[in-house]
Formats: sequence, C-alpha cells, structure tokens
Amino acid sequence: MKRTVLVTGATGTLGRDVVAVLRERGHDVRGLSRSKPGYVHGDLLTGAGIDEALRGVDVVVHAATDGRRDVAAAGKLIEAMRRAPGKPELVFVSIVGVDRIPFGYYNAKVAIEKMVAEYGGTSFRASQFHDLVLTVAKGMTRLPLVGFYPAFDLRPVEVHDVAVRLAEIVEGELPATPADLSGPQRRSARDLWRVYLGRAGKRRLLIPVRLPGKAFRALRGGAGTGPGGGTGTWEEYLARKL
Ligand SMILES: NC(=O)c1ccc[n+]([C@@H]2O[C@H](COP(=O)([O-])OP(=O)(O)OC[C@H]3O[C@@H](n4cnc5c(N)ncnc54)[C@H](OP(=O)(O)O)[C@@H]3O)[C@@H](O)[C@H]2O)c1
Repeated sequence: MKRTVLVTGATGTLGRDVVAVLRERGHDVRGLSRSKPGYVHGDLLTGAGIDEALRGVDVVVHAATDGRRDVAAAGKLIEAMRRAPGKPELVFVSIVGVDRIPFGYYNAKVAIEKMVAEYGGTSFRASQFHDLVLTVAKGMTRLPLVGFYPAFDLRPVEVHDVAVRLAEIVEGELPATPADLSGPQRRSARDLWRVYLGRAGKRRLLIPVRLPGKAFRALRGGAGTGPGGGTGTWEEYLARKL
C-alpha cells in the first residue's frame, strides 16, 4: 500500500537512504530539513513548519538528531503529531543497547523510546553505521606512527540495510518492538581498524584503549553488538568509500 511518509533527518547519513528506498518502493515521501533546498522546511526544536509538514502524512520516520537536544526535539514532534489530523504512525530510529550503555546520548534515546511508546509508536534499534565507524577509525589513527582502538567488539551495519528494514516496518503492521538490526559480522575494533588501514595504505602500531566506567564495561561485554541481520560488510563498504 502506498503511504505518505515524512522522514525527519532526511539530509542525514541514514535519512538520505531512507528517502531513496521509500521512493523506490513507490511511497510519497517528504524529507524534512531545517534549511536545505529541495526539502520540506521545519525545525523540530522551535516547532516552526512542523504542523504543515505533517499535513496528510500517514507515517513519520524520525531520524533527525543534533546529538544534544534530541529529547526536546522529539517532544515537539510528538506534540505536533498529537494535533495532526489522522494521528500519523511513528517510527523512531534508536541504537542497539541504549538501555544497557549509559552514555548521555544513549540515555536520551531511552527517554525518547518511552515517549514514542506512550504515543503508540515503534522504536527500532540499529547498531553503529559503517560511516560512523570509519569516522572514528580515521580519528583514532590520525597520528603518523601509532593508532588507537577501543578494546571491544563492534557489529557495524550498512546504512542501506537499515533503510530497507525501516521501509519494511513502514509498510507492515507497526510492531511494538521490531528486532534489532546489526551487521553480518561481530568483529573486534582492532580487526576493523586493521582492514581500514590496509585499504587506506597506512601503517600504524595499534594500541588498545580501555576506558573506565559502566558504559565502556557494557560495550566490552558486547552490549552494543546486536543480533546481526544486515548483509553489507565492512570490506564492501570500504571498497566503495576509499
Ligand atoms: N550514526 C550511527 O552510527 C547510528 C547508529 C544507530 C542509530 N542511529 C540513529 O539514526 C538517526 C540518524 O542518524 P544519522 O547518523 O543519519 O544522523 P545525521 O547524519 O547527523 O543527520 C541528522 C539530521 O537531523 C537533522 N536535524 C538536526 N536537528 C534538527 C532539527 N532541530 N530539526 C529538524 N531536523 C534536524 C539534520 O538535518 P538539517 O541539517 O538538514 O536540518 C541532519 O541532517 C539518529 O537518530 C541516530 O541516533 C545512528
């Protein structure tokens, strides 16, 4: 069934792919952005433009984030959705392990998941995108001779796999808690960095970093890795990117 979908964060890493996948599958898609040309304009923090953006929408895929004020932004969005005629469905993009890994950003996700559940929406958790892992790997190996890696495993996922799963959720009966999604392989960060360095033609002595605290302990216990389900690998991603 063709649906009218508003995608927040439509200019972001995930949002761009979500818009493309939903359009390919025949849906009528509006991408929200604060200012980029070619998008429906709206700001989730001030609420400007949001009522208009929601007009006639069946489902909202909420993938916007500014990393700091996401609870307030989600609050404004949900407030506007409660006012919207037809009470659109809501799918929120969260992160694998947010309830077990107490980073501030993750705590905010848990708070938003609660707000989404109260609204009657769905929260869908994905693991770290390849794009984020590449940014971190580059940052931690930018010195000339040595590189650092976090001493835990990751299970990064291809953004396109996440977008396809979101489209399937939009098209089906919204499940209260859809299965988490992560990449096909659980691997040590050291191994992922090693492959990146090889691909980038760089040599570094890799040194593990063990950070203290509950969040990093949970990550070392595998709380962020998730059950798999994605198909795109790190090697395939790097072959496209580098
Ligand atoms: N990155 C990961 O590894 C990962 C893993 C799992 C889940 N997630 C979740 O997936 C979602 C998307 O992540 P991403 O990495 O694709 O994010 P991103 O690239 O940082 O994009 C976020 C987008 O949000 C929009 N935005 C920010 N503040 C806004 C506001 N006040 N009003 C309206 N739009 C606003 C921005 O669009 P404009 O600048 O055009 O307004 C921006 O393009 C997030 O919820 C994130 O937590 C990410």
